[in-house]
Amino acid sequence: MDPLATNMKQPISTKRLIKPITLGKLKLKNNIIYSPLAGCSDYPFRKMVAHFHDGLSFCEMVKMDALLRYDKNTFSMLDYDPSMRPLGAQLCGSKPELAGLSAKIIEDLGFDLVDLNCGCPVDKVTKDGSGSGLLKYPEKIADIIAKMVASTSIPVTLKIRTGWDDTMLNAIEVMKLAKEAGAVAISIHGRTREQKYKGFADWDYIKECKKQAQGMIVFGNGDLFTPEKALLELESSGTDGILISRGGMGAPWMGENVKRLDRGEPLIEVNSDLIKTTLLQHMEYIAKYQGDRKAVLSMRRVGCWYLKDHPLSKKLRMKLNKASNLKEMELLIHSFNWNESPDLIMA
Ligand SMILES: Cc1cc2nc3c(=O)[nH]c(=O)nc-3n(C[C@H](O)[C@H](O)[C@H](O)COP(=O)(O)O)c2cc1C
Repeated sequence: MDPLATNMKQPISTKRLIKPITLGKLKLKNNIIYSPLAGCSDYPFRKMVAHFHDGLSFCEMVKMDALLRYDKNTFSMLDYDPSMRPLGAQLCGSKPELAGLSAKIIEDLGFDLVDLNCGCPVDKVTKDGSGSGLLKYPEKIADIIAKMVASTSIPVTLKIRTGWDDTMLNAIEVMKLAKEAGAVAISIHGRTREQKYKGFADWDYIKECKKQAQGMIVFGNGDLFTPEKALLELESSGTDGILISRGGMGAPWMGENVKRLDRGEPLIEVNSDLIKTTLLQHMEYIAKYQGDRKAVLSMRRVGCWYLKDHPLSKKLRMKLNKASNLKEMELLIHSFNWNESPDLIMA
């Protein structure tokens, strides 16, 4: 450890908070998970995350009925290469009769873990009772989990919100039923369905869930945008691990910096150089996986993530949005005067 490192930080706690964890038969090197993110945690995103993270990552959620129809696009969302493992897939659906077969397909595809989505707040998902719609019917969640557990040998988990709305905070009840049904862990996003992404995640409630978990493994989730916040919430909630979600978009190094902060080691310095190099690498992965035409659209979105906190980035983002091919984008990123701006230290 270099004592002169400028980005040296004091560890948050004298206890080590980041440590190996076992979920069923799956042994993970650490208790940091990269969340499922629909429209974001695609193949190139996971490939980029794998540069920095040796723990579990998730694909985007996939619908059970689409999987059972052998829908091509749904299967392509589950593409992976070995560097991305350990890897979880997440199922979205509300029909217990589809759950076992769907989970079996996930296992046969080689995934390390299968999760049930009980958190998606989008109307078109909840209207048939899927996603956070399931929170209104805890027994149904237990039924679905039991069917998944009965048909697979990989660990089964679920990801929920604190409840449907303030009048129905039932994460503790859901957790107990899911545990009895055979789920090995639960991830709790500290917002209700009604909140969607507004307000703040309620980590006090997550802490209460962990207190009442009776041995169930609990991962806390919500608003972890810096390594400091991640460790503070992990310690004060007493949960077993954390999920990184929006805080990892355009910051694939986030989990590694949480680990380093925990050990009191110098963090990866988030400066113009790192952002430029990682953005170009991510672009290469997108180009290889999607081909030029689709990649241009993806890069507009991904470019925004990486550049959102950069003081001079507005100009570059606008130019990237107008660029019509990847070569032009690459030239723009290379020719941008990154050094005009002070180096940034960010999460
Ligand atoms: C763009 C986007 C896509 C998401 N897709 C999923 C998903 O497919 N499955 C899921 O369980 N949660 C999904 N989530 C929720 C996140 O995994 C996470 O629970 C939520 O963003 C709260 O964490 P954060 O405040 O740290 O971002 C999504 C969130 C965002 C912003």
